[in-house]
Amino acid sequence: MQILAIETSCDETALSLIEASGGLSRPSFSIIRNVIASQIAIHRPWGGVVPNLAKREHLKNLPLLFKRLFPKPLTLYPDLIAVTVGPGLEPALWAGIGFAKELHQRHFPKAKLVGANHLEGHLFSFLLAQKTANTKLQKTNSKQSSTPNYQPLITNYQLLFTKDIFPAVALLVSGGHTVLLSVRSLAQWKKLGETRDDAVGESFDKAARLLNLPYPGGPEIERIAQHGDPKAIPFPRPMMHSKDFDFSFSGLKTALLYYRRDHPRANVADIAASFQQAAVDVLLEKTARAAREIGARSVLLSGGVAANALLRTTLAAAAKESGLAFLAPAPSFNTDNASMIGAAAYLRFSSKKRGYPLRANGNLGI
Ligand code: KG4
Ligand code: ZN
Repeated sequence: MQILAIETSCDETALSLIEASGGLSRPSFSIIRNVIASQIAIHRPWGGVVPNLAKREHLKNLPLLFKRLFPKPLTLYPDLIAVTVGPGLEPALWAGIGFAKELHQRHFPKAKLVGANHLEGHLFSFLLAQKTANTKLQKTNSKQSSTPNYQPLITNYQLLFTKDIFPAVALLVSGGHTVLLSVRSLAQWKKLGETRDDAVGESFDKAARLLNLPYPGGPEIERIAQHGDPKAIPFPRPMMHSKDFDFSFSGLKTALLYYRRDHPRANVADIAASFQQAAVDVLLEKTARAAREIGARSVLLSGGVAANALLRTTLAAAAKESGLAFLAPAPSFNTDNASMIGAAAYLRFSSKKRGYPLRANGNLGI
């Protein structure tokens, strides 16, 4: 079936048209078109995402992206329209939901319209692709806010899925979430633990701000850290050895704040590298223990922070050493995109679970 998916939970306006088949036993996704308009340049002066600004930008970008997805005349008719209903910023979510309803009424009345869960999207984003193929880079234009800043337009991705990866332990790390899950199948999973305060991406963003680096902080910390010594500063590893699978990252950011206050001349690259290492150590320790405890056959990594090379390589190496498969999406599917929303909606549809109601729910869980 063809699925038109819409994602507006945070600061990326994203649309995608995917072809999904195979059901739960052999799901296969072909991305017909995947378009994203990033709002990073708009939120950067504020040091974080401003919900009402995000909503305004989504409302402006959605029709422009739709035109790119469906150049006239309309020749493709989706069977399913999926829109993110949470978790996320409610004003931003409502922009996507309203647009989905409008498309349904005006263009695709025969399609089924369903709500989708952003976190399920991240969780299953590894199914979208393992390698990049036929990637056409579009012109970026981040300064002119009237023109969306298009990310790569991706076509013809495919991944053949095997059930042998289950049970799996999944680490979902983004700007809003840090969750560890035990995944039994594409339709069944259980939360093992989550952060009790800041999400790990949020802590990278806050740490970057303390180091006078721009938003979003994760890629900036990673960039600067390349030139630093990860052992230079013994930052704490909060909750690393606690018996549960919960995390806490706000103390790590505070440790950085105090270190900077007490050592104003310290090398910023050393601070960034040591901070990144501390965060990755905690994530590795808990993920590895969860994998052992549930007898996992694979480790799944997803969410914006999964773009971090140290985290990816550390988890991949640990998985390999334990004889587990390591699955993470292609880099462009780590951060928010609509293809993952289409995939999540397809899996939910295939498992005969109800789609989520078309109501923004900022705190929707997984
Ligand atoms: O999944 P995502 O695009 O949006 C949310 O659902 O939150 O994740 C965005 C988060 C931001 O906090 C950003 O700083 C972080 O992912 N991030 C990274 C990297 N790239 C993005 N964190 C660490 N290293 C990176 N390379
Ligand atoms: Zn996300």
